[in-house]
Amino acid sequence: MLRSDRGRLIRLVHAGLLALAVLAWGCAKRAPLDSLEPEGHFAREIDRLFKPIFWVAVAVFVLVEGALVYALWRFRHRREGPAPRQVHGNTRLEVAWTIAPALLLAVIAVPTVAMIFSLAERPDNAMRVEVIGHQWWWEFRYPGQDVVTANEMHIPAGRNVLVEMTSREDPAVAQEGEDPERLTGGVIHSFWVPKLAGKQDVEPGRTTHLSLRADRPGIYLGTCAEFCGISHANMRFRVVAHSPERFRTWLEGQRRPAASPPPGPAAEGLEAFARSGCAGCHTINGVQIGNQAAQGRAGPDLTHFASRRVFAGGIFQVTDENLEAWLRNPPGKKPGARMPNLNLSEQDITNLVAYLRTLT
Ligand code: CUA
Repeated sequence: MLRSDRGRLIRLVHAGLLALAVLAWGCAKRAPLDSLEPEGHFAREIDRLFKPIFWVAVAVFVLVEGALVYALWRFRHRREGPAPRQVHGNTRLEVAWTIAPALLLAVIAVPTVAMIFSLAERPDNAMRVEVIGHQWWWEFRYPGQDVVTANEMHIPAGRNVLVEMTSREDPAVAQEGEDPERLTGGVIHSFWVPKLAGKQDVEPGRTTHLSLRADRPGIYLGTCAEFCGISHANMRFRVVAHSPERFRTWLEGQRRPAASPPPGPAAEGLEAFARSGCAGCHTINGVQIGNQAAQGRAGPDLTHFASRRVFAGGIFQVTDENLEAWLRNPPGKKPGARMPNLNLSEQDITNLVAYLRTLT
């Protein structure tokens, strides 16, 4: 082997190892957003279709790339020896490699199209949940239950759930210089809980739907899968699946009006909530400010805020420190956050956090 050939081979091996290392980066144990480990009926159906098609694709890749690499190697430029025979076109080969992929695609299309239609069906006896995508958080409403929550969708395990989704911004969120009408439209998001279901766009002005089911109680992470603006990456959520009994208990709890704060910091926090105009964007059922109920729709419903584990599009754990940092400057913690910096005093922040923590 020539010296230059050896050098080239070593470089090739290095490049291959580097590519392998980059590929290995994607591997993780117990990855919460791994669609290859479905944990519910609908996700499993997709997986059942995906796996065989993936291996067919791998076989095609190996055959085609193998033939290419072989040809490159076998007929590479050489200083000595005769040049390979020059060929121009081969009708038989060309007909074969046009028909073979067409047949393959036709065969793959049969189960794929059947699956698309079967997944689009509305399952019998499903529990309905309305999903509203906002910039940049998720609202979940339980029709007929008067229950609204944010960034955490609770469902009973073992039962089909039909999510009906749309995207909307409330005009009240318009910030200075923004046209409120423009905001009513919302933008396109995509609802994705990889372990429980496929991916579905969430569009302004129309309703799309998706079925999901969790085999067992647990927490299943979800995320927005369509670029929707500066905090797209901060638009996460979680599906909390309970046993049917625990789900009923949760629903009962969420139906209650907000707890009244005990005297002290929490009560002062409610005062700060009223004084700072928070009710313009947030609902707290049972709270009356002057002669108006706190029924703002632009931001998350806070009636049972303390029953959630995460806030602000599911990116922060509900802790005193995180809540304080958030209230000091929401857009500073999450780029583009619609909640403005209200320049609250440290005293108000402490009291507001005390109040929020009573909203179980
Ligand atoms: Cu919402 Cu990306």
